[in-house]
Amino acid sequence: QTMFVTFEGIEGCGKSTQCRLLGQWLEAQGFDVLMSREPGGSPLGARIREILLSREFEGMSPECELLLYLADRAQHVDTVIRPALGGGRAVLVDRFADSTVAYQGFGRGISLETLDSLNRLAVKDLWPELTVVIDVPVQLGLERARSRNFELGTSHSEGRFEAETLDFHSSIRQGYLELAAAHPERCSVVNGQGSESEIFAEIRDAVIRRFGLESPGSS
Ligand code: TYD
Repeated sequence: QTMFVTFEGIEGCGKSTQCRLLGQWLEAQGFDVLMSREPGGSPLGARIREILLSREFEGMSPECELLLYLADRAQHVDTVIRPALGGGRAVLVDRFADSTVAYQGFGRGISLETLDSLNRLAVKDLWPELTVVIDVPVQLGLERARSRNFELGTSHSEGRFEAETLDFHSSIRQGYLELAAAHPERCSVVNGQGSESEIFAEIRDAVIRRFGLESPGSS
């Protein structure tokens, strides 16, 4: 069995931290882990990421934005994710196809059918076996994202969407919850309001259940 897990949620939900914690835990269980992210999970994708997150192109058209995320994904799947899974590695990715549905669909208003067919083109049947959706209230997520950017200094990109309104981010959050409800076989929604270790415990349990691992303390 392969292990392909993606992390999703609004800005500041804590997914990058949780992705790292899961990676460390899986390594301690003996897995060979590859951690990656979108956009920017391949060398070509890193260049696309620069374009997407640079201030210079803040006003790009929504369709251009969409196709750049998809181009990044196609390259990532073909050159990084598929080979790693083929080599028996556990692959954890911070954002994947669901981000496109949440941001470009629920956020920007591009039709979900269009997104579905473009995602299919990019992933070619390689869907995550588990998608962890970390759910937090929009206010909390944005506060966290802003204080993180502040700590990193003003040179750090705010991301394409951090200046958007609360309404925009509420649509994204809602989009994730609808996606999770539509794909219960692979999506687990985790409450992101607890402490790092509480949230991690929930994610670890979801992984144990999904992949039939032996839970710590059960033997
Ligand atoms: P990043 O700095 O990685 O933000 P985060 O830490 O919140 O993941 O920037 C990625 C941004 O790209 C983020 O605002 C979400 C957005 N995004 C999309 O709009 N569509 C997509 O398909 C993906 C993968 C990301």
